Amino acid sequence: MTPFAAYDPIASLYDKCWGEEFAAFAQEAFRIHLAEILPQPASVLDLCCGTGLLIAHLGELGHNVFGVDESSGMLEIAGKNAPRAHLQQADMAGFHWDTRFDAVVCLYNSVNHTRSPEHLQAVMANVAAHLHPTGWFLFDYATLEAFESAWETNEEIDTERGMETIRYLYQRSARQATCSIDHRTEIRQIPLEPEEVYRSLRLAGPLRPTRRRPHREPRPCRADAAPPSNSAGERPQISTTHAGPPRRDPPEDGPSR
Ligand SMILES: C[S@@+](CC[C@H](N)C(=O)[O-])C[C@H]1O[C@@H](n2cnc3c(N)ncnc32)[C@H](O)[C@@H]1O
Repeated sequence: MTPFAAYDPIASLYDKCWGEEFAAFAQEAFRIHLAEILPQPASVLDLCCGTGLLIAHLGELGHNVFGVDESSGMLEIAGKNAPRAHLQQADMAGFHWDTRFDAVVCLYNSVNHTRSPEHLQAVMANVAAHLHPTGWFLFDYATLEAFESAWETNEEIDTERGMETIRYLYQRSARQATCSIDHRTEIRQIPLEPEEVYRSLRLAGPLRPTRRRPHREPRPCRADAAPPSNSAGERPQISTTHAGPPRRDPPEDGPSR
């Protein structure tokens, strides 16, 4: 029996309500940061692929696409949205493919779904182990400031069950953000600061930050939190990380090794 995952009960709701918006953001981030530097075709893993709309798009562009997610409900829809993708149900720290990718992407606050610094560290190490020596890891994350300033609210959405309430709660003492959809599920996220993300990258070995696009308007992802445009720079934190020597660009900010 597959273990319960927090997104299972809302997989179809997610696909209908947020899928297209999130995919537009992810496609734009891929276009800005990776499209011109990857081989054609490239092998691309979408870590926390959700309902597979990004890999569907990348597959149409001719790339060899792979997806990992812990939620069987999300993966079932991903299989329909991206029939050519290779999918695996696994924790983001525990997936395994007998191949190395030209790029791993992990977008829309997915890295904030790690449970602890140790879990984050294990994710970075696993990504590093699955990248070509010249591969790239593209990810974003929401910071403490983003959760503290923009998370706490309620939202009414029209679902197949009628009107339902989404409650976003940020508990400062526990540093825990939750998103509850009536009694169906509770999704947990933790804020991440650049220092801890960089530390986990350094500990992961060959992953080295190359570029960071700071957010102009910090806010975590929510159904009603769409930025004025789909520009990746509008989102909480976008980092591109290059794995392995040689470094081609000097970093704009952040630590270097
Ligand atoms: C905010 S959604 C983003 C989905 C997709 N990247 C997108 O842009 O639409 C987060 C996804 O991460 C998955 N996820 C959360 N924790 C995970 C974990 N520990 N391992 C693997 N997947 C996880 C969830 O099931 C969900 O599909």
